Amino acid sequence: MKIDVIVAPIFLNEKAIKGCQCAVIDVLRATSTIITALASGAAEVHPCLTIDEAKKGAAKLPRDSYLLGGEDMGKNIPGSDLGNSPLEYMAADVVGGKVIYSYTSNGTGAIRKAYAGSGLPVYIAALTNISAVSSVMVKEASGGQVKEIAIVCSGRYGKPSAEDIFCAGLMVDKIGRGLRESGIGAELADGASIASGFAAANRGHGLDVLSSSEHGRFLESIGFADDLIFASRIDLYNIVPVFDGERVVLLQ
Ligand code: MLT
Repeated sequence: MKIDVIVAPIFLNEKAIKGCQCAVIDVLRATSTIITALASGAAEVHPCLTIDEAKKGAAKLPRDSYLLGGEDMGKNIPGSDLGNSPLEYMAADVVGGKVIYSYTSNGTGAIRKAYAGSGLPVYIAALTNISAVSSVMVKEASGGQVKEIAIVCSGRYGKPSAEDIFCAGLMVDKIGRGLRESGIGAELADGASIASGFAAANRGHGLDVLSSSEHGRFLESIGFADDLIFASRIDLYNIVPVFDGERVVLLQ
C-alpha cells in the first residue's frame, strides 16, 4: 500500500488522487477545531470555500440551530458567532447540537479539494485524534478497497507548514506500522518519507514544532498561544470525523 503526504494543497493533483483514501490535516487550527467541536457535541460542521458560502448556508437554517465560525487571515469573520480557536468549541452548552458553518483561510478549502479529487469520504485529522484516524485508515486499507493513502496538509497560503508535516509524519509511521501488523507492506512516496523524517527528528517535541512554526509564531503574536498548547496534545480525543462531501460528522 502506497502512502503519500501532500505537503500543501497546491501539490494536490485532483486526477492523481482519484480513488485515494485521504486524511486532511490543519493542526493550526482548522482540523483541530473541527475535531473539538464534534467531540463537544456539535451535530455537524460544514467546511466552506468562501465566507459567502458559509453565510448563505447558515442563513437557510433557524437562527438557534447554527453557529457561524472560522477566520479570514487570522481575524474573525464579521458577523460570526465564533472564531477559529479550538478552545471556543469546547463548551457543550455553546456547540452542543449545533450545525456549524466554517470558513478558514486554508483548512476548509483543503478538505473540499481532497474530497473533489478523491471522490471518497475524507478523514479529518490533527494531533488531537491522530491514533484514532490512523487506525481507521489501516482498517479501510486492510479491507482491500483502497487504492492508495494520501495525507493532505493544509499548509499556509499555498506553502507547507511544519506543524502539519510533523503530524503527517507521525501518521505515516502509525499507518505504516498498522499495515505491517495486518500483513500489508507500506511503500512510502517521497512526501511521506520527508514527513516521516521530520517527525522522527522532532518526536516528543510537538509543542516546540508548533511554537517555532510560521503560523504558530503568528498565532502567538495575536494572542492565541493557548491554542498551540491545546493543538499539540496527542490523542486527546478518540474520535474520527469524516467529510461526506457536504458536512463533517463523526464516523459511527
Ligand atoms: C486555516 O485554515 O488557515 C487556519 O485554520 C487558520 C487559523 O485558524 O489559524
